[in-house]
Amino acid sequence: PVLVVDFGAQYAQLIARRVREANVYSEIVPHTITADEVAAKEPVGIVLSGGPSSVYEEGAPRLDPAILDLGIPVLGICYGFQSMAVALGGEVAQTGLREYGATDVTLAEVESTLLAGQPGSQTTWMSHGDSVSKAPAGFDVLASSASTPVAAFASDERRLYGVQWHPEVKHSDFGQAVLENFLHRAAGIPADWNSGSVIAEQVARIQAQVGSGRVICGLSGGVDSAVAAAIVHRAVGDQLTCIFVDHGLLRADERAQVEKDYVAATGIRLVTVDAEKQFLDALAGVTDPEQKRKIIGREFIRSFEEAAAALVLEASGSDDSEPVKFLVQGTLYPDVVESGGGTGTANIKSHHNVGGLPEDLQFELVEPLRTLFKDEVRAIGRELGLPEVIVGRQPFPGPGLGIRIVGEVTHERLELLRAADKIARTELTAAGLDGEIWQCPVVLLADVRSVGVQGDGRTYGHPIVLRPVSSEDAMTADWTRLPYDVLARISNRITNEVAGVNRVVLDVTSKPPGTIEWE
Ligand code: XMP
Repeated sequence: PVLVVDFGAQYAQLIARRVREANVYSEIVPHTITADEVAAKEPVGIVLSGGPSSVYEEGAPRLDPAILDLGIPVLGICYGFQSMAVALGGEVAQTGLREYGATDVTLAEVESTLLAGQPGSQTTWMSHGDSVSKAPAGFDVLASSASTPVAAFASDERRLYGVQWHPEVKHSDFGQAVLENFLHRAAGIPADWNSGSVIAEQVARIQAQVGSGRVICGLSGGVDSAVAAAIVHRAVGDQLTCIFVDHGLLRADERAQVEKDYVAATGIRLVTVDAEKQFLDALAGVTDPEQKRKIIGREFIRSFEEAAAALVLEASGSDDSEPVKFLVQGTLYPDVVESGGGTGTANIKSHHNVGGLPEDLQFELVEPLRTLFKDEVRAIGRELGLPEVIVGRQPFPGPGLGIRIVGEVTHERLELLRAADKIARTELTAAGLDGEIWQCPVVLLADVRSVGVQGDGRTYGHPIVLRPVSSEDAMTADWTRLPYDVLARISNRITNEVAGVNRVVLDVTSKPPGTIEWE
């Protein structure tokens, strides 16, 4: 792999993704990694990320300098560039001059692999206070900016490189080209990592792990579990059974999509559990969001376990009667990194989907997407032949519509919300806006009523909230500026067609401070 050393900013994940966009596999490692640990991973290249510290600060993260002597090509970015400069005997100055945002740099007239083929002046994205004031001995200075004499340096001989700017950020005009020059030209890494190679590698891994054992997978209807199950199915065929718990909190057509389109495309064995009554009984009278989430999670596990046990009973006497040993989970790379599995930085948030199961469960986990980002999972799903209605789906929370009704969840309210949600989704798709929005929760304010006039009479109905957001990873989000005519059409249709709703409102809050979902 190419190792991305994380110095504690949000940039490491972005760098890892850009490296993969250059068709090279990358992994994130903490900055506390030692040269021996690096060597053990046999990387073909190393990228040092930016970070929020100043290299001379007490307690500032440091790089094991021996990493630079391993003979592995290294590219330092921003803080990584500065820590390289210090480790190699150059100098970093606290100039007091900050560069933030779009910054012009001028390339020096020096031959260099790193910036080969790039225009002599270009716009880059910077974010730093300190600057490299002197390049290490034997290094060429490749670029400068108004307040930074050394904005990039290189030693082609030692294959060590650094840039002050952030090539991983799209606002750096030739950023991706810098990364690709480093990976392909300087480090000589072939561009051969792609969805096809991932599938082949995972299939072999799963076969080795599972052998002839039985495997189950909880399908949520979402992209991750669907793709995870499809890879496992490719690896072990009918040793896999999927369990789909219909908790009654799904959107319109969702169950049919899984039962019909997904099974048709994959041939996977599927058991659907009808659990609406069980879930709604458990949710009766509950309005607190956290309590709802806990109840839904608990009931989910309960019905999942029951289904798994029934599966084994049903098959008793046949080859299928041996106990299920493996459970497939659609865990993604950001979940692993954010749970402290990759970075050594703080645990931002312990992810667990409603499909997540307690640790004392007697299954061994199969996690074929553990090293992948969401967009890569989609690409793999397409490669595996999954239909676009599944692969292109926007994220939908495991607790479903249960956390999109502010107030008590009842069958009647779910029907109402399903109708409104279907109208919003249909109109957004018809307007060609699916690519622009990350997701658009539709929320029913069941505890709020307002006065309206419909037909000849007064109404006293509930508002529906539209929450369209744009995001790269759901960690932060902005509200999407939808065209007024599309909003008008959705509002008209919902108030006309959904009885009990007499008002449609738009949520114009970014995240932070609002979360994407209302509960
Ligand atoms: P928030 O509301 O935290 O949502 O800004 C971030 C993203 O996560 C989804 N979400 C969930 N997904 N189980 C899930 O599988 C959950 O309990 C859950 N809660 C929120 C949400 O739809 C958004 O994409």
